[in-house]
Amino acid sequence: MRNSLVLALSGLVLAPAVSAQAYDSGDRDREDFSWVQPKNTTILGPYGHVPPVYPSPNATGVGGWEDALQKARDFVAQLTLEEKADMVTGQPGPCVGNIVAIPRLGFNGICLHDGPLAIRVADYASVFMAGVSAASTWDREILYQRGLAMGREFKAKGAHVALSPVCGPLGRSAYSGRNWEGFSPDPYLTGVAMEETILGHQDAGVQATPKHFIGNEQEIMRNPTWKTNGTVGEKVQEAISSNIDDRTMHELYLWPFANAIHARAASVMCSYQRLNGTYACENSKAVNGLLKEELGFQGYVMSDWGSTHSGVSSIEGGLDMNMPGGLGGYGMNWKAGSFFGGNITRAVNNGTVPVERVDDMIIRIMTPYYWLGQDKDFPGIDPSTGDLNTFSPRSTWVREFNMTGERSVDVRGDHGALIRKHGAAATILLKNENKTLPLKAPKSIAVFGNDAGQITEGFYNQDEYEFGTLVAGGGSGTGRLTYLVDPLTAINARAAQDGSLVQQWLNNTLIAKTDVRTLWLPTPPDVCLVFLKTWAEEAADRASLHVDYDGDDVVDSVARYCSNTVVVTHSSGINVMPWANHPNVTAIIAAHFPGQESGNSLVDVLYGDVDPSGRLPYTIAHNASDYNAPIVTDIQTDGFYDWQSWFDEKLEIDYRYFDANNISVLYEFGFGLSYSTFELGEINVENVAGSNITSRPEHLPVQPGGNPALWETLYNVSIPVTNTGDVDGTTVAQLYITLPDSAPEGTPVRQLRGFDKLSLAAGQTGVANFELMRRDLSYWDVNAQDWVIPKGEFVLSVGFSSRDLPVTTTLTPVKGCTKRKL
Ligand SMILES: *[C@@H]1O[C@H](CO)[C@@H](O)[C@H](O)[C@H]1NC(C)=O
Ligand SMILES: *[C@@H]1O[C@H](CO)[C@@H](O)[C@H](O)[C@H]1NC(C)=O
Ligand SMILES: *[C@@H]1O[C@H](CO)[C@@H](O)[C@H](O)[C@H]1NC(C)=O
Ligand SMILES: *[C@@H]1O[C@H](CO)[C@@H](O)[C@H](O)[C@H]1NC(C)=O
Ligand SMILES: *[C@@H]1O[C@H](CO)[C@@H](O)[C@H](O)[C@H]1NC(C)=O
Ligand SMILES: *[C@@H]1O[C@H](CO)[C@@H](O)[C@H](O)[C@H]1NC(C)=O
Ligand SMILES: *[C@@H]1O[C@H](CO)[C@@H](O)[C@H](O)[C@H]1NC(C)=O
Ligand SMILES: *[C@@H]1O[C@H](CO)[C@@H](O)[C@H](O)[C@H]1NC(C)=O
Ligand SMILES: *[C@@H]1O[C@H](CO)[C@@H](O)[C@H](O)[C@H]1NC(C)=O
Ligand SMILES: *[C@@H]1O[C@H](CO)[C@@H](O)[C@H](O)[C@H]1NC(C)=O
Ligand SMILES: *[C@@H]1O[C@H](CO)[C@@H](O)[C@H](O)[C@H]1NC(C)=O
Ligand SMILES: *[C@@H]1O[C@H](CO)[C@@H](O)[C@H](O)[C@H]1NC(C)=O
Repeated sequence: MRNSLVLALSGLVLAPAVSAQAYDSGDRDREDFSWVQPKNTTILGPYGHVPPVYPSPNATGVGGWEDALQKARDFVAQLTLEEKADMVTGQPGPCVGNIVAIPRLGFNGICLHDGPLAIRVADYASVFMAGVSAASTWDREILYQRGLAMGREFKAKGAHVALSPVCGPLGRSAYSGRNWEGFSPDPYLTGVAMEETILGHQDAGVQATPKHFIGNEQEIMRNPTWKTNGTVGEKVQEAISSNIDDRTMHELYLWPFANAIHARAASVMCSYQRLNGTYACENSKAVNGLLKEELGFQGYVMSDWGSTHSGVSSIEGGLDMNMPGGLGGYGMNWKAGSFFGGNITRAVNNGTVPVERVDDMIIRIMTPYYWLGQDKDFPGIDPSTGDLNTFSPRSTWVREFNMTGERSVDVRGDHGALIRKHGAAATILLKNENKTLPLKAPKSIAVFGNDAGQITEGFYNQDEYEFGTLVAGGGSGTGRLTYLVDPLTAINARAAQDGSLVQQWLNNTLIAKTDVRTLWLPTPPDVCLVFLKTWAEEAADRASLHVDYDGDDVVDSVARYCSNTVVVTHSSGINVMPWANHPNVTAIIAAHFPGQESGNSLVDVLYGDVDPSGRLPYTIAHNASDYNAPIVTDIQTDGFYDWQSWFDEKLEIDYRYFDANNISVLYEFGFGLSYSTFELGEINVENVAGSNITSRPEHLPVQPGGNPALWETLYNVSIPVTNTGDVDGTTVAQLYITLPDSAPEGTPVRQLRGFDKLSLAAGQTGVANFELMRRDLSYWDVNAQDWVIPKGEFVLSVGFSSRDLPVTTTLTPVKGCTKRKL
């Protein structure tokens, strides 16, 4: 035992194929073992302590899953030990993740599929808008409807589990390659998006998998590096460690996961990177402590594909399912064995892992399965999946799979119409000088840019190629298009109704170096539409915040001679826009990744059939150097543990940082224009909790989402909103809170705590409603280890963006000293 502890501390214990010792540590000192840290502790500084939380809590089914849990228990009671090992270990098969069937029990196995905007490994399925676009709608109903429609497609293809939605990355850095898969760097907006999406998925009968838990805020070095030594992979450096303090964890990164668990998410995927020095999937504080104890999570934790780095340590740390099942890291090779699988049987037989823990893992897996009725009439797997699955092609399958679904079943239904509508609602109008938009039957239109036209190199995982519009990013979060309405095609179709002339130039290199007057001779166009794009994909971070393919030069070239230049971006997220204040750039639209109806969604807004009602889910700064919280891009040293990312900015990400430091920005969080104008009336605050609100919540038995007292509404806030323009329109009323001075240092100046999207006819008045829950008014007190409402006066600010807040009022939930504590 002593031996294995030494190995653990030197880090060798986690290396597959060189570490049979992973299982030799039955009665080790957990406190030491759970913290695989560098010998040089100055590298980890004040972080790097993972408070040990053992044993892994048993599921109880609390919160509505009690009956399903009993069925799961009965199921587990019939399993042999080998079947138990199968139930928690992925196998190569038709889906991106597969749990094999147990025919003698009538159990048909579990099929897991990517991803957050489409069922990826499928034909005849829809490509929905990406998370960043969904967040831009600020529309609870759309978020739900999108989740529901996606869920129906997964189910109809025979997928029990959708590996969706994403709130990690949250968006600490604008550069992270996967921000577009998730929603927004604001935890409140993302929390609502998670909850609605999950309710949608699961109402369709499919298990949701919020991911990646937790701290997966950059792609670079998310996995360890390896070198080949003979047939054996030898680890060179451990993956990056996200070092996050407890308060930041609770108020930013864990916050939307709490919403996800509150919505009864079936499973959670743990992430690749290390967390305070320990791999996320075996971080007992995170998985056992935060997720299973504090948030009362009753479902199962699955690893990301290859993010399992140990057997016993992971099982004890709370991991319930190893995906895709083979050894992670080097080779991701099933044939090399598994940290789970056969090792589980052996570890149980020799007493290293109690069988009760394995039983709990399976109970957690099967409870949501029964709760969602997946044991009854669930569609069989579409055999086309088996042909499309390049991750585990048929040649790798070692077990039997019966794909009893209809081959190439078309699951799209009428989702195209929905996607068109959702894409339009996600379109953000950032600038509109002199009402240049909506277009009014222009006589002559010129279209520029390599993002305007049809995709040129295939309908799947577009990759960073030059010609073709972008509707999704790359990696496991992408989708396989069955058709694509590109902007140019949609503009041509719409322009034909007005008899407009439409000319096009799609080669950015050419446009950037050309006097564009020579292109459109003899008469200047009435409007020049410039289409720009920005790619991002899994496993790589963005190198720049500028648009791709010299897009900035394209705008300059066009705007030099076109006095009515409208710029449209299809981007993964944040762009700097050096041309934003160019006098000839009259309008700017951020359309992000809208999905398969992209062109139609855009044209609906360009021509005013739909009011642009998207709002920025992040901040656009004046220039790239204005952003803080840089990702780690390079480590010059070659020490085993040298990749460290310090979340030193704490709560100050995105607008929280710009506001705290009074930095002027180009377009602030929450901003977006309508074709109409809106005004607010008088704010009304109703205390629904009675007069005596306590600072600390009552400690009620934990339910999914945590202490239910945190989810109790304390105040209902409402405010009339009037459409003061002469066209019908849609706006998003937003509520921000400022905590009293008694809150600890580092508390953000303003934080979003409510939003309400209203569509109003010209002249009409509606009412925006916001419910403030206890959690919304609390900060995480690291000493009390509890959510606390600070004493004194809160400021509530309501308006139309984080920097347009004309209406304020105050609120004192807990009376007392308002002076900052010394
Ligand atoms: C430990 O790491 C720090 C930071 O990298 C370095 O300055 C210091 O020299 C190291 N100490 C030892 C004993 O290696
Ligand atoms: C990370 O380290 C901080 C500081 O030691 C600690 O408070 C926190 O609980 C740790 N979190 C995890 C998940 O290990
Ligand atoms: C989980 O339940 C088993 C009995 O099924 C029990 O032996 C074990 O101690 C329980 N674990 C915890 C952490 O409560
Ligand atoms: C390869 O592995 C062997 C045995 O573990 C070791 O002795 C040798 O140093 C390794 N070679 C390299 C190049 O790392
Ligand atoms: C057990 O795990 C080790 C890694 O620790 C691996 O090399 C071995 O192949 C696994 N055994 C089985 C049966 O999968
Ligand atoms: C227990 O089983 C594990 C499973 O692979 C094995 O690695 C370990 O050597 C065994 N320990 C003992 C004491 O037999
Ligand atoms: C596949 O179907 C055959 C024939 O119905 C059946 O005997 C077998 O058990 C099934 N296998 C699995 C893994 O479901
Ligand atoms: C907008 O209209 C004003 C007033 O008519 C005019 O001075 C200004 O040049 C116009 N701006 C643009 C970009 O057309
Ligand atoms: C785009 O334009 C540049 C500059 O004129 C030219 O060199 C290049 O070949 C063009 N690309 C294509 C695909 O036509
Ligand atoms: C804007 O466009 C007009 C018309 O072509 C042109 O004369 C003017 O120089 C342009 N302005 C700038 C700043 O490029
Ligand atoms: C950043 O933006 C500001 C405001 O537009 C500008 O004055 C400044 O020159 C820019 N700095 C850099 C380094 O581009
Ligand atoms: C104040 O709190 C106490 C204890 O929670 C409760 O019994 C009482 O009804 C509350 N009073 C009011 C006015 O809400």
